[in-house]
Amino acid sequence: PRPILLTRHGESRDNVRGRIGGDSVLSDTGEIYAKKLANFVEKRLKNERTASIWTSTLQRSIITASPIVGFPKIQWRALDEINSGVCDGMTYEEIKKNMPEEYESRKKDKLRYRYPRGESYLDVIQRLEPVIIELERQRAPVVVVSHQAVLRALYAYFADRPLKEIPHIEMPLHTIIEIQMGVSGVQEKRYKLMD
Ligand code: G3H
Repeated sequence: PRPILLTRHGESRDNVRGRIGGDSVLSDTGEIYAKKLANFVEKRLKNERTASIWTSTLQRSIITASPIVGFPKIQWRALDEINSGVCDGMTYEEIKKNMPEEYESRKKDKLRYRYPRGESYLDVIQRLEPVIIELERQRAPVVVVSHQAVLRALYAYFADRPLKEIPHIEMPLHTIIEIQMGVSGVQEKRYKLMD
């Protein structure tokens, strides 16, 4: 069996400000995670001849993977965070205050709700299909450094979680989820690298 390691990017400056979307860089805490992640990956994959690191095209993902050396890196647009359209850059409080109908519709059906000029979880799930096909084809380990909504969808695929749960799956920062696909099914381990 070969592992797939899933992780969110390190805490970003927008995470600290509570802003969704955007393309910010990491906070100081996020930078520390990037170094710890590189350490972990180098130890975990030291006996693997080949492995690859997949990121999104957003800065917070690329920067999180940057201290990892010795493995090829691939940027996928399909791994970019859910596009929050007109709400990009806002806090949840601002959306609630300035666009209450949008806020309520999303609360009612987070899976199907599509941000105006953005995406829904169902859209994200659909665009992940080529990533999943490629992940299934790989024989070597893959480290995926992506974003909360995207990782919920990827994780649900491997852990066989129902569609309706996807938008609500807990996907904490600074935690690696290791998935092993063997003959006897899927096994999962979690490594929390920071408190
Ligand atoms: O910026 C987007 C968030 O990471 C997605 O979280 O779908 O729970 O709002 P949410």
